[in-house]
Amino acid sequence: MRVRVDPGGRVAGALSVPGDKSIAHRWLIAAATGRGVSRLAGLPRSLDTRSTATCLARLCGAAGPALEAWASSPVVADERNGSTWNREASTLDVLNVEGEGRSGLSPAGSALDCGNSGTTIRLLAGIAAGAPFTTVLTGDRSLARRPMERVARPLREMGAEVQTDAGRPPLTITGSELVGIAFEPDVPSAQVKSTVLLAALAAEGTTSVREPVRTRDHTERLLEALGAPLRQADGRTELDGPFETGPIDGRVPGDPSAAAFLVGAAALTGAPLEIVRVGLNPSRLAWVDVLSRMGIVTTAATDGEEVGEPVGHLSVAPLSAIRSVRVPPDELPLVIDEVPLLAALAVHAGGESRFEGGAELRVKESDRLAALVEGIRGLGGEVDVEGDDLVVGGGGLRGGTARSAADHRIAMALIVAALAAESPCEVEGVEVADVSFPGFVPLLRAGGADLEERT
Ligand code: S3P
Repeated sequence: MRVRVDPGGRVAGALSVPGDKSIAHRWLIAAATGRGVSRLAGLPRSLDTRSTATCLARLCGAAGPALEAWASSPVVADERNGSTWNREASTLDVLNVEGEGRSGLSPAGSALDCGNSGTTIRLLAGIAAGAPFTTVLTGDRSLARRPMERVARPLREMGAEVQTDAGRPPLTITGSELVGIAFEPDVPSAQVKSTVLLAALAAEGTTSVREPVRTRDHTERLLEALGAPLRQADGRTELDGPFETGPIDGRVPGDPSAAAFLVGAAALTGAPLEIVRVGLNPSRLAWVDVLSRMGIVTTAATDGEEVGEPVGHLSVAPLSAIRSVRVPPDELPLVIDEVPLLAALAVHAGGESRFEGGAELRVKESDRLAALVEGIRGLGGEVDVEGDDLVVGGGGLRGGTARSAADHRIAMALIVAALAAESPCEVEGVEVADVSFPGFVPLLRAGGADLEERT
């Protein structure tokens, strides 16, 4: 599907975004592999979280039918508020997951398809490592290119048998009795940390993880809320295993990484916007600080908490000009998912912006450095890659045509960038936005953007 973007629209109002994808993966996994009946509300019906649910359905007998039914039911986009579930029966908004603990896991019989989702394949590897049978994890063409040794290595050290295909999926894992390890990953990655912490739940003894840079801490917050023996100090997280989690009862907060695209759209079109019921976990909000250096003032206010996660609202004030920005290598991992959006804003800045040390961006859903260069140039902007740095020229977009590179965040970033182009733009392959943000295009249009979908 292509989207034609005409300049001149505004994105304003009070909007909500789908539930947080990172949190949803973790709650689904903990609910299905822990013990007791969990009540999960507001799960995002994105393709990635559906992948996690369908894989878990194959591993977890009692939870299987409910997970499968949730994952396969159709999505109805609600254009008024970005929710993709609200118009459906409340049974679809709330998923009850019956967990039978680790002893309730059974072999899937054939390979589990993790689709496009790196979080699904890596976190499920952590579960498979402690399950006493062989599990094969695979995915789509994009996932088949992504590095898996970063999780395979620590899981082998804990005692599991793990094979990769020259470091890439499929992952073939034969679980066994695990032992705790002291782990220091060499890339900052919340997925890798979480894989090891999930495996640590099944391991004998203490597992510790020390990250080079603190990444998103959803797994730690969840395990703490569920009473796991977890300690955090001096940049190190320790967990004493084995431990079986109990049920979760909560509503997934809105996804701040999805909210970032709406905030960016509002800032570019000079409109005031509020996003309600959004997750405000500080480990996910480094992009707000980058925006403020670009002259975009966003305020966040916490209204409550869900299973250890702060929830509240975000508002962005109208602005007249965007400043260029430098994101240094030690900050980049904290905005790893927002670089496409920040680059989309930076093309409209007065001068040159730099996003430094972006090697990890090459192994996301696409090579995001290459995809941004091709996409921004296609829309008539200036951009280059120097080593692992993305250098965005500023000065605006002349208009043109660009492709999503089959990457949800590239698709959404290019659409946002195009809102302030000098002339109409077309972005191709935007159906991929459903990977994290079903209803993105209708929601932007409902907010006031001039977008037309063409097949
Ligand atoms: C995620 C971690 C990040 C992020 C991804 C979601 C998670 O990946 O890019 O979208 O839920 O843990 P890395 O941990 O590989 O950086």
